[in-house]
Amino acid sequence: MLKDSFGRTFPYIRMSITDICNFKCGYCLPNGYQVDKSDNRKFLHLDEIKRLAKCFSEFGVNKIRITGGEPTVRKDFFEIIKVLKNDAGINKVVITTNGYHLDKKAKLLVDSGLNGINISIDSLDRETFKNVTGHDRLPEILEGIKNLQDLGFENIKINAVLLKGINSSKKDFDTWSKFIQNNKVDFRYIELMQTGDNLEYFKKYHASSKIFKNYLNENNWIYQTLGKDAGPSLNYINPEYKGKFGIIAPYSKDFCKTCNRLRITSRGDLRLCLFGNTGISVRHLLQKDDQLNELKDLILKQMQFKKESHYLELGDTGSTKNLSKTGG
Ligand code: 5AD
Ligand code: SF4
Repeated sequence: MLKDSFGRTFPYIRMSITDICNFKCGYCLPNGYQVDKSDNRKFLHLDEIKRLAKCFSEFGVNKIRITGGEPTVRKDFFEIIKVLKNDAGINKVVITTNGYHLDKKAKLLVDSGLNGINISIDSLDRETFKNVTGHDRLPEILEGIKNLQDLGFENIKINAVLLKGINSSKKDFDTWSKFIQNNKVDFRYIELMQTGDNLEYFKKYHASSKIFKNYLNENNWIYQTLGKDAGPSLNYINPEYKGKFGIIAPYSKDFCKTCNRLRITSRGDLRLCLFGNTGISVRHLLQKDDQLNELKDLILKQMQFKKESHYLELGDTGSTKNLSKTGG
């Protein structure tokens, strides 16, 4: 089992498989994806992904989240899911997606054996959605969710980044409330995080998640005490609703205490934290099956460098320019 010097264990890996994204979210890639000329390494290929996942599986990792960029833009995306599940022995494979073409992909996703999906929807208002992401694609995403539900797919989560003056009014909260009343979907607001690239945007749109927390308290939502392997999301339930609400507040005091994940970038760097500069490439040990033990040693050694917390509240974003490289 992977364990750091603060006693935290890591049954969960977030693996980015591409930096490329076709959306232009204001807080992430406002000008769209740009090729990084300083880094011409290719994204991890299928065999490398398989070896890495196998290694983590031997460390007791039972869940991998595939992220991007936008993971579904990769041509071998469905193959990756299959390899993780069937060859690497990962029980739970989940993805984070912007929902692009979800209406058309729903069936393929269900058939692939995927165990869960997180979809980013910053607003249920079509115009607002378009303004934030640069794409008028809300209808196809909602259609996609419906298709998933019709096929009996259970584990659907929706994330929105909380943005002051854009999606943070009582009306917005009420709209989501209505949505999850009859939809078995977990909706979470993520507090906007400062990254190397988005300081101006951050200053303009950052809102404390307390406003949503207050709303939940005023409307009889019940805080659900954290389970043993729960991540950093605070969850709220209400017996009259099929879905749940959640808050991800990276600036809160104890956020990092429940950290249960490590990250792999699309080019094979092990990142110990979403923020901070700690991380090294493990790719040279993904080239042949017989490098497994060496790879395990390297990862184990890295664990001692995981810090207790990020230093975001000090404005230290580490080497994180935007989240398209590390998948949020
Ligand atoms: N702050 C908070 N959340 C972000 N995401 C991307 N950039 C940021 C940021 N700066 C979110 C996306 C998506 C997930 C992958 O990360 O909206 O839900
Ligand atoms: Fe793409 Fe996600 Fe960044 Fe939006 S937040 S631009 S969907 S990577």
